[in-house]
Amino acid sequence: MKLTAQLISPLFTSLALAAALTTVPFMAAHAADAPPAAAAPQAAAKAVPSAPAKPDLAKGEASYTAVCSACHGADGNSAIAANPKLAQQHPEYLIKQLQEFKSGKRNNAIMKGFASALSDDDMRNIAYWATSKKAKAGFAKDKELVAQGERIYRGGIADRQVPACAACHSPNGAGLPAQYPRMSGQHADYTAAQLTGFRDGVRKNSLQMNQVAAKLNDREIKAVADYIAGLR
Ligand code: HEC
Ligand code: HEC
Repeated sequence: MKLTAQLISPLFTSLALAAALTTVPFMAAHAADAPPAAAAPQAAAKAVPSAPAKPDLAKGEASYTAVCSACHGADGNSAIAANPKLAQQHPEYLIKQLQEFKSGKRNNAIMKGFASALSDDDMRNIAYWATSKKAKAGFAKDKELVAQGERIYRGGIADRQVPACAACHSPNGAGLPAQYPRMSGQHADYTAAQLTGFRDGVRKNSLQMNQVAAKLNDREIKAVADYIAGLR
């Protein structure tokens, strides 16, 4: 008995240690290609409850085509700068936004109506269909601004505690599933509007982004949004 206990307890200790260490390679991988950020993504990492059944992509496509494609483009690549591209976006992020438009946590008069008409299943079907579409690359427009935007995206603004966007949205803007959205190629007008909304407390569905945007001025918002549009 005594022997078994002695054998087992170190085993338990090492299992606990192994569990504690599983997050380290993830952190190390990001430390290697992303500049240090004031707020680390894993701070808010929360498991998204796993979906009950397989999403029905055919139903998702049908609803999307009937209702959403007019504004977000036939394949999720909206051609209108005020309307976000949804193609290739993480499904969990899309579902979160649709739920929050419906509940009013993300306040938008246009999307409230469309999201309110969707059931949880509709949201899932549409979100997984949109994810399956390839995002079209975009382009930055202003050479001078884009250099400033790149510095902010990659390194943040140290003296004002603005963290590097790359730390949470990844160096190439693909985001980190599930809660850090993909941004590369997004319309600059849309991105700038969201950042301004986060900064001014108009978009209130992410405390993290309210804090990130709090200290950005209009020019910095324009610069980083332009850089993101051309990111790939
Ligand atoms: C009349 C145009 C219009 C229609 C139709 C429309 N949307 Fe939108 N959608 C918008 C606009 C504008 C925004 C940006 C809202 C904002 O600024 O917060 C948006 C934002 C979104 C977002 C947030 C994306 C992000 O990156 O955060 C999602 C998700 C979305 N729409 C899904 C849908 C779905 C699904 C449908 C169909 C059921 C739909 N939309 C129909 C105009 C539209
Ligand atoms: C600490 C992690 C973190 C950092 C650093 C961060 N973000 Fe975010 N960002 C998020 C999260 C989480 C969301 C999703 C918010 C939600 O669920 O509505 C988000 C959402 C966004 C959105 C909305 C995307 C959309 O489709 O509507 C934009 C734009 C954005 N971030 C830009 C930036 C920029 C620019 C920077 C750097 C100045 C930055 N973020 C830094 C965590 C972060």
